[in-house]
Amino acid sequence: MAETNKIRVGFIGCGGNARGHGRQIAAQPDAEIVALVDVNEKAIEAFRDATALSKDVPTFTDHREMLKVVKPDAVEISTPHTLHFEQIMDSLDAGCHVLTEKPMVCTVEHAEKVIAKAEETGKHLMIGYQRHFQPAYMYCREVVQDGELGKALFISAWQCQNWYRGQQGRWRLDPALSGGGQLNDSGSHLLDILLWILEASPREVSALMDYLDTQVDILTAMSIRFDTNALCNISVVGHAAGQMRESFTIWLEKGTLFVYDGKIYREEQGVERFEVSNEQLPQGGNKDRAFLDLILGKAENRVDALNGLRVIQLTEAAWESAETGRLVKVE
Ligand SMILES: NC(=O)c1ccc[n+]([C@@H]2O[C@H](COP(=O)([O-])OP(=O)(O)OC[C@H]3O[C@@H](n4cnc5c(N)ncnc54)[C@H](O)[C@@H]3O)[C@@H](O)[C@H]2O)c1
Repeated sequence: MAETNKIRVGFIGCGGNARGHGRQIAAQPDAEIVALVDVNEKAIEAFRDATALSKDVPTFTDHREMLKVVKPDAVEISTPHTLHFEQIMDSLDAGCHVLTEKPMVCTVEHAEKVIAKAEETGKHLMIGYQRHFQPAYMYCREVVQDGELGKALFISAWQCQNWYRGQQGRWRLDPALSGGGQLNDSGSHLLDILLWILEASPREVSALMDYLDTQVDILTAMSIRFDTNALCNISVVGHAAGQMRESFTIWLEKGTLFVYDGKIYREEQGVERFEVSNEQLPQGGNKDRAFLDLILGKAENRVDALNGLRVIQLTEAAWESAETGRLVKVE
């Protein structure tokens, strides 16, 4: 931290998602944005407008140059997926704490390397899976982990988004930049919450995928068996008209939890289904604030790099199954 005592944050990637992060960081009294990196000048201008950022904050097209010149305390990375690996490694090497957007990286090999690098440098590495701060999913995790409704038996989750249409001509349909399709993009949130809520290890995965007329997966139908014997179906529908929607249902021995559009319903034997009220839900939060609190030693890392590793392990297993037509054992 510099003389101001504020956490000095550099942004690597200033596109659509980064602007949301930027507004959050700009609103925190104990942080300041000290550098912007993007290869697109228009993205930098839009970021400045969105965050009312001073013209004095320097901009760069190369993250390494920014790390060398500005020496921020922390960086937030919101760039095309295959760029994350190098940007995380360089930022950790430069002594920065890192909040990277999902997916953490696009291969298991890279995930293991960034985990080793974070350990070696002693810097925090957090992943941008915001569902860890959303009350409905936090509630599911608490109920499952407390064993309040018994053992989890079956999970069914789906997500749909107008992704195929929206991404035409953009980097997400180019595997060299996206590292994969919708399963690796918004779909990675579904895999993440599944793994985070259950805290169980997938043992077997089978998947069918359709790439439509693109080079990346658009539609995925995936089944998983966990080491606890829980079974799961995941549907990722990347070609859906209308709004992005998400549904997550978990059947436990003594009851069922249904999450839909951010609301959560609960049903038990002899108790009619009811919506869990806000008062019964844990308090939510914000990932940028959580990142700052982590750096300040006020909070634990609620989305650490192991979450990123588990997601890419499962994603790779699904890709392998879809490609080979076989059930894949996950080590
Ligand atoms: N957590 C969420 O819900 C959520 C939502 C949207 C996006 N994201 C994630 O945020 C990241 C960015 O997605 P987006 O929607 O903002 O995309 P975007 O295309 O709007 O922004 C990406 C930015 O990265 C810039 N860029 C490209 N190469 C670069 C480089 N070498 N160095 C620096 N900048 C570079 C681009 O010019 C662009 O401005 C992705 O990882 C995505 O998955 C997360």
